Amino acid sequence: MLRKPAALAAPVIFAAAMAFAHGDTAPRSVDTTGLPDLPDEVGTVNPWREAEGEVLFKAVDIGGKGFNSNCARCHGLEAISGGLAPDLRYLEANDFGDEWYLDRVMHGYEQNGAVKMPPFADILTPEAIWAIRTYIETRPDADELTARGTDISALRDKVQALPATATPEEVETIAAELDATGAEFEALSGAPRSVSALQQAAFLLRSGANHAPMASELISGLLRQ
Ligand code: HEC
Repeated sequence: MLRKPAALAAPVIFAAAMAFAHGDTAPRSVDTTGLPDLPDEVGTVNPWREAEGEVLFKAVDIGGKGFNSNCARCHGLEAISGGLAPDLRYLEANDFGDEWYLDRVMHGYEQNGAVKMPPFADILTPEAIWAIRTYIETRPDADELTARGTDISALRDKVQALPATATPEEVETIAAELDATGAEFEALSGAPRSVSALQQAAFLLRSGANHAPMASELISGLLRQ
């Protein structure tokens, strides 16, 4: 089931505490500390589809952890299906896709009395459910990323070379370049944007040039995929 072990590198670093639960089939709750509270009722539409900045990156980070510990064993690491269950990256990022997503996540799926997918209604909070949704729908096209490996590794080198004493202007130049390159990769779900390690690295850098080593590690994770 570990189709591409190397692909784990990026989420492991950004989501430092990712529980690696593939051998363990018990569904688990997701720590959503840091995300805005949502109403107890789960709602019908992803509240973070248009989110920006901190909320967006938190949702993707937490959603990635939740996905890896609860969904990846069937739906594949990074949501890239190995064929056991549908490839969720293509689930449309719109009201219809949300309805379908919620129905499966809340109730699971049974066929001829066999549980093909367990229900998560009692395990995941609304925050966790929508964070996972946000993670899934912002997945970039992994093949496009691979094809742009040379450009991405050049960007990584720039980040790596950034001294902790870099001025905010120097940081911003590189962060803007990371964002611009990241924005070239479309989300397979049709969501307004994809979020890859490039934008995550830009976000980290903007919080301080001393985060350059971590940001460059994040980008390296993309290159190992
Ligand atoms: C034990 C394996 C398993 C686990 C764990 C699992 N799923 Fe599924 N999931 C499936 C299977 C099999 C289907 C196909 C069911 C069907 O035919 O509709 C499915 C279908 C879905 C669908 C509908 C996709 C579509 O294109 O029709 C969504 C959405 C979904 N799962 C989300 C999730 C999420 C989110 C998680 C984690 C919180 C998760 N699943 C965990 C096996 C699993």
